[in-house]
Amino acid sequence: MMVKKMGAWMLLVLLTLVGDWCGRSYGCLKEERIGLLEIKALIDPNHLSLGHWVESSNCCEWPRIECDNTTRRVIQLSFRCARDRSLGDWVLNASLFLPFKELQSLDLSSNGLVGCFENQGFQVLASGLRNLEELDLTHNKLNDIILSSLGGFSTLKSLYLSNNRFTGSTGLNGLRNLEILYLNSNDFKESVLTESLGALPSLKILTCKF
Ligand SMILES: *[C@@H]1O[C@H](CO)[C@@H](O)[C@H](O)[C@H]1NC(C)=O
Ligand SMILES: *[C@@H]1O[C@H](CO)[C@@H](O)[C@H](O)[C@H]1NC(C)=O
Repeated sequence: MMVKKMGAWMLLVLLTLVGDWCGRSYGCLKEERIGLLEIKALIDPNHLSLGHWVESSNCCEWPRIECDNTTRRVIQLSFRCARDRSLGDWVLNASLFLPFKELQSLDLSSNGLVGCFENQGFQVLASGLRNLEELDLTHNKLNDIILSSLGGFSTLKSLYLSNNRFTGSTGLNGLRNLEILYLNSNDFKESVLTESLGALPSLKILTCKF
């Protein structure tokens, strides 16, 4: 009986060690936890919205995050209203999201986003994030420059761009699987819009109240 118990105990220790070797000692991938804390340090230095993101805990259990139950990789990230307003406008470095290779859904809505650093736009993610299906950029201050940087996301199914400063001088190209597109409250010109939509063969739902 005692021996059996010891055996179980040793097995548990062994499994814990294996977990450590795989970089999953906190229940989520080490590189993803580091990436999340890097983003937190940048957008919420005063621990207002992301205060529950603490170094020594399982990042899959943190608010605003969903992991795949088997791979333990982050599949959903929501930064809605997460950025400290006192920091002013946000020029994004999209490379921050490179660690999240299995990401399916990214929400960056309501964050004062004005654009991306040169050569650090969404195009840097297109080859790394091969599963991204949903991108929410609603309620920011983004302009046409970022539209062309989205072209590489061939897996994207839903794109939310309402309440920004798009005029449509650049079209959306390459989004061949895009089914849902929200464009409300921008400055799109109708003629440009019609032209741009021709390049989206899978589109099913479009909203564009201006
Ligand atoms: C993971 O498991 C939890 C609880 O068992 C469940 O609520 C959740 O829907 C699962 N998530 C996925 C993506 O399967
Ligand atoms: C963007 O982030 C990447 C990865 O963290 C870093 O290597 C790079 O220097 C950053 N670039 C800028 C302009 O901040």
